Amino acid sequence: MREKSRSIGALILAALSASLIMTSLGLAQSGRFTLPSEEYIPHLGEIMSAIQARHVKLWYAGKAANWDLAAFELRQLNANLADAARLYTGIPVSDVTTMAAPMHSLEDAIAAKDVRRFSKTFSEVTEACNGCHVSMERPFIVIHTPTEQQPLGDQRFSP
Ligand code: HEC
Repeated sequence: MREKSRSIGALILAALSASLIMTSLGLAQSGRFTLPSEEYIPHLGEIMSAIQARHVKLWYAGKAANWDLAAFELRQLNANLADAARLYTGIPVSDVTTMAAPMHSLEDAIAAKDVRRFSKTFSEVTEACNGCHVSMERPFIVIHTPTEQQPLGDQRFSP
């Protein structure tokens, strides 16, 4: 299951680079080129953008007590974090492990279908996101609990 959701995650990530894929499909269909065999490596910022979207969806799924959807979004987010850690070896291991504890607590809250615990542990996950941004010299990327049901409703844009 984990392998499966991870490969679905990779597909979604690859879809982020739609123009690149369209170009290679076009070339493949023309019969002059074959698809590249190397693994497509998304930039860390692309993985993070996928993580951001899932962070927002996870919040609204939990608030709506749609636990199946919340569990799904959490698994996807987890797969994205695993990809980031696997593909970008420069990421300090401590930053990834700091995420692990709140992610597990959130998983438990979802399994227990507990909205209050979900809200609390969601904040802890969000704090861990920002902790890594600070430690990786991106203190200006500030994530918070979504306040508007918008794709980027979890990010602070004022300085
Ligand atoms: C292990 C470290 C780490 C963790 C954990 C982490 N991030 Fe990031 N994040 C980064 C780094 C590094 C960048 C900058 C990437 C770049 O420079 O291309 C980034 C960038 C971002 C961006 C900006 C993307 C863009 O291109 O505009 C968003 C949004 C983001 N992260 C959201 C999150 C959220 C939400 C979480 C938690 C669920 C999270 N991040 C957890 C390291 C982390």
